[in-house]
Amino acid sequence: MTTHPFWLAGTAATGDTEMTVLNPYTGEAAGTVSVPTPEQVEEAVAAAHAVAAEAAALPAHVRASALDHIQRRIGERAEEIAQVITAESGKPIKWARAEAGRAVSVFRWATEEARRDSGELQRLDTDAGGVGRMALIRRVPKGPILGISPFNFPINLVAHKIAPAIAVGAPIILKPAPATPMTALILGEIIAETDLPRGMVSVLPMPNESAASLIVDERLPVVSFTGGAFGWEIQRRAPHKHVTLELGGNAAAVVLDDADLEHAAKRIALFGNNQAGQVCIGVQRVVVTDAVHDDFVARLVAEVETLGTGDPADPKTDVGPLIDEASAERVVSWVEEAVAGGARVLTGGARDGVTVAPTVVADAPADAKVVRQEVFGPVLVVQRVADTDAAFAAVNDSDYGLQAGVFTRDLPTAFRAHRELEVGGVVIGDVPTFRADQMPYGGVKGSGVGKEGVRSAMTDLTDERVMVLTGIDL
Ligand code: SIN
Repeated sequence: MTTHPFWLAGTAATGDTEMTVLNPYTGEAAGTVSVPTPEQVEEAVAAAHAVAAEAAALPAHVRASALDHIQRRIGERAEEIAQVITAESGKPIKWARAEAGRAVSVFRWATEEARRDSGELQRLDTDAGGVGRMALIRRVPKGPILGISPFNFPINLVAHKIAPAIAVGAPIILKPAPATPMTALILGEIIAETDLPRGMVSVLPMPNESAASLIVDERLPVVSFTGGAFGWEIQRRAPHKHVTLELGGNAAAVVLDDADLEHAAKRIALFGNNQAGQVCIGVQRVVVTDAVHDDFVARLVAEVETLGTGDPADPKTDVGPLIDEASAERVVSWVEEAVAGGARVLTGGARDGVTVAPTVVADAPADAKVVRQEVFGPVLVVQRVADTDAAFAAVNDSDYGLQAGVFTRDLPTAFRAHRELEVGGVVIGDVPTFRADQMPYGGVKGSGVGKEGVRSAMTDLTDERVMVLTGIDL
């Protein structure tokens, strides 16, 4: 088996040690990747720091044509990328293909946004003291970025770190999840084909503990992290840095009296379980009003039971393995804890090795882990509520707030949901799992701080800088 090199300041390199990447479904090695030495990590950081001014000054056409090249090459290598995603993460191939397509779209958006940004002119003669003056407001990169990406979207959540960084002209050191570094290394290889200056992008696979020094390194003033609660620890360790945290949640889908029950059941069944529930905005809590509860739950259970589990390499598989056996064990133990507290399992509830059967739970105690915490597994928890007021209160009764879905056909209720739900995004007529990659994306409360989505991330990675011009006759 060949060892994949890492990308140090745009050049392929190897270190002294390797990491074996396991296929979660087979338990066999999916590949090995080389791990940089501390000296090589230092070289990457020094290169990012050294190139920052040059990167910030790159003309828009240079940034845009690099991004355009990357989106085209991801498209050309999409099937290979999808196969690697499936091998290293266990994501069913149909979802891996969809993910590769989304990464193309992220880089395409970044290509367009890189060309669009011209800054803003502001007239200052709105008061007597500003007559003859005008402000030019431009955005400048805050500085080199440390990007830390999770295992559940091995290319697209890497794309959401790297594409906006290139678009604004900021160097980035990307540390992929140790479980899924091989897809990120393909992206590193594609980026190395561009004319971007050396040092602008490094992709460094390493164990999480080895990133500790990067988190506090002053030469990387921005940390953009997607993952779990460890994100808050990053903020504690580097309080003076600009830290963006895309963390998890226990996303709710609300089914109201006027919902299209068939549609809601199909969408919630699928998007509570796709990727084995390992999606930050995957449906976890299903809040259903009393009037439609029994009818809806019967449909939901029937839909969940149609989902096929098994080999993620099989295009027919809907629900594959979790990332590792410990995760599968934890998910089932949380279901068992709910059952011990009085919950009923309507379907599923067991595991076969690393694969957890798609599960629907009812009557879970309000303080059960499957209600309060992020399950990150194929488990739907149905909660019966009296009406819309109670439904929205149930959604907000959470330590998290990433996205929510509301199945209603009533426009005033849609606007009310948008106003009242304490989340980063509300999806009307669909699951909270819907995400278009150009949308602002990011949560409130325990779900994080800051926003991604190409345009929003570009704003997040830059600061406004004003130039006041004097002696201007408007
Ligand atoms: C996530 O799981 O954080 C991202 C979800 C998505 O991009 O669809």
